[in-house]
Amino acid sequence: MQTDSSFTFVLFGGTGDLSMRKILPALYEAHRAGGMLAESGRIVAVARHAEDRDGYLQWVNENVKSHVSKNGLDEAAWASFLKRIDYVKLDLGKPEDFALLRDAVSGLPGIRVFYLATGPSLFVPICRALASVGLNENARIVLEKPLGYDLKSSNAINDAVGEIFAEEQIYRIDHYLGKEPVQNLLALRFGNALFEPLWRREWVESIQITIAEELGVEARGDFYDNTGALRDMVQNHLLQLLSIVAMEPPHSMDSDSVRDEKLRVLRALKPVDERDIGKVAVRGQYHAGGIRGTPVPGYATEPGVKKDSTTETFVALKVEIENWRWAGVPFFLRTGKRLADRVAEIVVNFRPVPHSALGSPALRPGANRLVIRLQPNETIRLYCLAKQPGEGMNLASVHLDLAFDQFFREGQMEAYQRLLLDVINGRLALFVRRDEQEAAWRWVEPILNEWSSANRPPKPYAAGTWGPAASSAMLAQHGTCWLEEEN
Ligand code: BG6
Repeated sequence: MQTDSSFTFVLFGGTGDLSMRKILPALYEAHRAGGMLAESGRIVAVARHAEDRDGYLQWVNENVKSHVSKNGLDEAAWASFLKRIDYVKLDLGKPEDFALLRDAVSGLPGIRVFYLATGPSLFVPICRALASVGLNENARIVLEKPLGYDLKSSNAINDAVGEIFAEEQIYRIDHYLGKEPVQNLLALRFGNALFEPLWRREWVESIQITIAEELGVEARGDFYDNTGALRDMVQNHLLQLLSIVAMEPPHSMDSDSVRDEKLRVLRALKPVDERDIGKVAVRGQYHAGGIRGTPVPGYATEPGVKKDSTTETFVALKVEIENWRWAGVPFFLRTGKRLADRVAEIVVNFRPVPHSALGSPALRPGANRLVIRLQPNETIRLYCLAKQPGEGMNLASVHLDLAFDQFFREGQMEAYQRLLLDVINGRLALFVRRDEQEAAWRWVEPILNEWSSANRPPKPYAAGTWGPAASSAMLAQHGTCWLEEEN
């Protein structure tokens, strides 16, 4: 991909964790690949900690280098990448410092991108300060999640930012939308005629979407303890995945066609009645346990976490979509920290054959299933029944496999790289529109309210397991189980 879209990429939070682990490595990769970033494109890091450009580059060398390029560092590309970087020392508490930023970027080429890799409480002050020095013109602004804490606070941020930037200038990041396999889900659904006739209530019995992590809260205890899994993962990543799985075919892949269809799904989510929350939502918190044989501490003893914390580190939900395609089909969503495995996958359980001339095995689970593994090891696996060789008609579950790394050995792109290139090139399709975000907050809000007002403490689970028993019990009520429980 060759581009001539020149840009000035201003990175607020230039010495933050996200810049270190994701944003700068993604920009480096795009630079190293050649042709993806215009030669004239500049990166202007903004932070308080480094004194000057040399100090900042030293920080980049010490902290970012280890996060770049899994295939070994290309020293020449790294050296030329550093030449793209400028630095402005700026104290966000001093509006006058923004004049320095304006001077630093004036005369730099191309579209201006302001990436706010900061806490959400700084979004509005930064936008106002940018506007005060006229930097909101001919610019795009990128907002990291979480955008707010609930519907009200998210609306307040969106209202204030919306006074300064038009909606088409605002790029709300959900990095799951940039993942290659999530893109592939769109290709699978809308590039093949095969699945579409089956992708509906008449043929689908239930759908599971899991994002499981082995990691705990790492160094983010403070942030996480005020957030919890529902806000951190469900309101955004899981509901976005759900909307892509369930959406109607868009008429084109332009940004608003895709987002309109996702929005329809989010608006069709059956509202959760607070009286039913015990039946459709499970919250859990890990205690000490072991991940692959290594002991790990419980959540409440993690740094930054309150000893008596009731924040959830696990959520399982039963969700329904009130439209003709999906009425009555349960979607089971699940996410958690310190679970038994790191896996993100979508499991589509098709209905068994209506009558089996081949005996009862044809009615059992393990066949008629599509498993889309998003990470690790991206694969799509279609389970069916086949006859075992030999005498008699004995059926066995077999699968057709599509392992992407065997088909496409090159060209995989990390989510942040794709999304940053999209911002620079003005492609909005993979960014969350305000109305989608509102619909998602609106849906999760009764659960948030009930969990906080009814003082419903999370159920404990041991680190290294698949969460509280109540999560399995919820599926059992619907005559099904999580995929890993079948084996
Ligand atoms: C982030 C959450 O949005 O996604 C983290 O804040 C989580 O808590 C992360 O660990 C998971 O992303 P990935 O890409 O590693 O699955």
